[in-house]
Amino acid sequence: MPVITFANTKGGAGKTTAVLLVATELARMGHKVAVLDADPQHWITRWHDSSDNVCGDRLSVTSYVTMGTIDRHIAEERSRADVVLIDLPGARSPLLAKAIGYSNYVLIPVQGSAMDAQGGAHVIELLQYLEVKANIRIPHSVVLTRVNSMVTTRALLAVKGLLASRRVHVLDTPIIERSAYRDVFGCGKTLYTMDPRSVSNLEKAQENAQALAGEVMRQLPSYFGQSTVRTSQQLKNVA
Ligand SMILES: Nc1ncnc2c1ncn2[C@@H]1O[C@H](COP(=O)(O)OP(=O)(O)OP(=O)(O)O)[C@@H](O)[C@H]1O
Ligand SMILES: [Mg+2]
Repeated sequence: MPVITFANTKGGAGKTTAVLLVATELARMGHKVAVLDADPQHWITRWHDSSDNVCGDRLSVTSYVTMGTIDRHIAEERSRADVVLIDLPGARSPLLAKAIGYSNYVLIPVQGSAMDAQGGAHVIELLQYLEVKANIRIPHSVVLTRVNSMVTTRALLAVKGLLASRRVHVLDTPIIERSAYRDVFGCGKTLYTMDPRSVSNLEKAQENAQALAGEVMRQLPSYFGQSTVRTSQQLKNVA
């Protein structure tokens, strides 16, 4: 069963939001999803505790995941879940290397700001170091987060340029800045159980989350089926 780690050593990059979107989408599709919550702010645990088990047994959340417990949690969840998602802290920590070591795929959420790209670069450097020094290649992609739906800002273009120069694969689907993605944490619901009258552009938020989860699945064709192989263009983009 694949382990997907969401990592960026810069705080507030959008890791936890991306984990929740992918987790709830995969659960909605019928996959059994286990989230390992290693974020010291425990947003996903808090959301799950207040959610009245909205995804049923298709979504489990393990909180207080640390260096001392992650081996056990991964072993346990790998045997019962279809996919394990790890939400890491937004700081340099030994947990980063350990979680990456277990991962089949690493997703690096990066906001359209230079500082954020630096936190992402630290993760990418670690992945490239593993490949060059230890011949361990862990597929990974950057997902651009909090992208303004209307404008392509200069900062965003700068981040894209930086990533292209380092030959880093970037998902075609960015995570758009949407109030639904903030509100979902406060109400213990999903994008499909929230009240569309009280959340703007909920349908667009759903579409974006679906596209994101679909693209993440296509990065793991051996786990999510042959119909999800990468396109040749995507393969060309992979570092
Ligand atoms: N696409 C988005 N649209 C709207 N708000 C967002 C989006 N992504 C993140 N946010 C908001 O930005 C803040 C930081 O996001 P988030 O908690 O997901 O980042 P993080 O990388 O997990 O942070 P940390 O490193 O502190 O764990 C939160 O208030 C979140 O609601
Ligand atoms: Mg977080």
